Amino acid sequence: MSITVLAIESSCDETAASVCRDGKILSNIIASQKVHEQYGGVVPELASRAHMQHIVPVVDQAMKTAGVPLDELDAIAFTQAPGLIGALLVGAQFARSLALALNKPLIPVHHMQAHVLANLIEEPSPSFPYLCLTVSGGHTQIVHCESPAIMKVIGETIDDAAGEAFDKTAKILGLHYPGGPLIDQYAKEGNPKAFKFPEPQIPGLDFSFSGLKTAILYFLQEHTRENPDFVKDRLSDICASVQQRIITILLNKLKKAAIETGITEICLAGGVSANSGLRKGLTEAGKKYGWKTYYPSLEYCTDNAAMIAITAYYKFIEGDFAGLDITPTARANW
Ligand code: KG4
Ligand code: ZN
Repeated sequence: MSITVLAIESSCDETAASVCRDGKILSNIIASQKVHEQYGGVVPELASRAHMQHIVPVVDQAMKTAGVPLDELDAIAFTQAPGLIGALLVGAQFARSLALALNKPLIPVHHMQAHVLANLIEEPSPSFPYLCLTVSGGHTQIVHCESPAIMKVIGETIDDAAGEAFDKTAKILGLHYPGGPLIDQYAKEGNPKAFKFPEPQIPGLDFSFSGLKTAILYFLQEHTRENPDFVKDRLSDICASVQQRIITILLNKLKKAAIETGITEICLAGGVSANSGLRKGLTEAGKKYGWKTYYPSLEYCTDNAAMIAITAYYKFIEGDFAGLDITPTARANW
């Protein structure tokens, strides 16, 4: 039997839809919301309104690109949690209405689990069990993944997420939101050893990034006192050095997790896994420690609906459906 799923993602500021047949992605459509740039961060109410404007054309385009008529869908999936509640509601309501109209089952998907399973979209894919470092604007987690349905968070941030460390640094440097991709870009021309930032000493597999942000702030205040053009003069070196520190914090914990669990299949996921330095760092660590390493293509790292679709495909196989009374939640436990 063939399984065809339409998936909708609307947890933050991307309205996305994807069609997946038997684990193969047939379309992956994303409408990004430019409206937030002028505010330096996502404005929840504006995100909800933009989702309402985008959802119909985005789903329509996903269906047309896939070449799949509505009556060939076997289930409708949507991001149920976590995320901005108003944003989630738009996707959830659309999915419930379509499931009701087509009389098809609904599949609620956990956004963070979907990031982890994005590694299964393309070949070569990791074999189970694998470890996944999920790094996004809101989360930093090391996930022990036993199977598509069984996964456990074994380490996470106690304060800021890795993406926030990038975005807040960018803001201090006067770069526009979201700053992660810009820091990545400037870092390519800079010296990662130019400046040294502290590595937090957090026990176990947990992370902390708030101290780094404060250290960067003091560092810049001190240097701009001596040279008001310091940021302009040394932007690439500052970006390369900050990025290098964020990467070593992440990879050192990942190494610890690999030793503790004995797992050598290691993946990246989430928006920050688009970072070129982190991808290179993981590959190098893999060679050094004997890991097999994986990271999704860029389009499957940042928020997208293909990862929701692949997760829904595995949930379909398990018969893991929900009733039409299912509601989204802003926070979600695993
Ligand atoms: O997973 P995602 O698209 O959305 C959330 O669920 O948060 O992640 C967004 C985060 C932002 O903090 C953004 O700055 C960061 O991913 N990001 C990057 C890069 N591309 C996106 N950070 C560093 N380097 C990049 N190339
Ligand atoms: Zn995400």
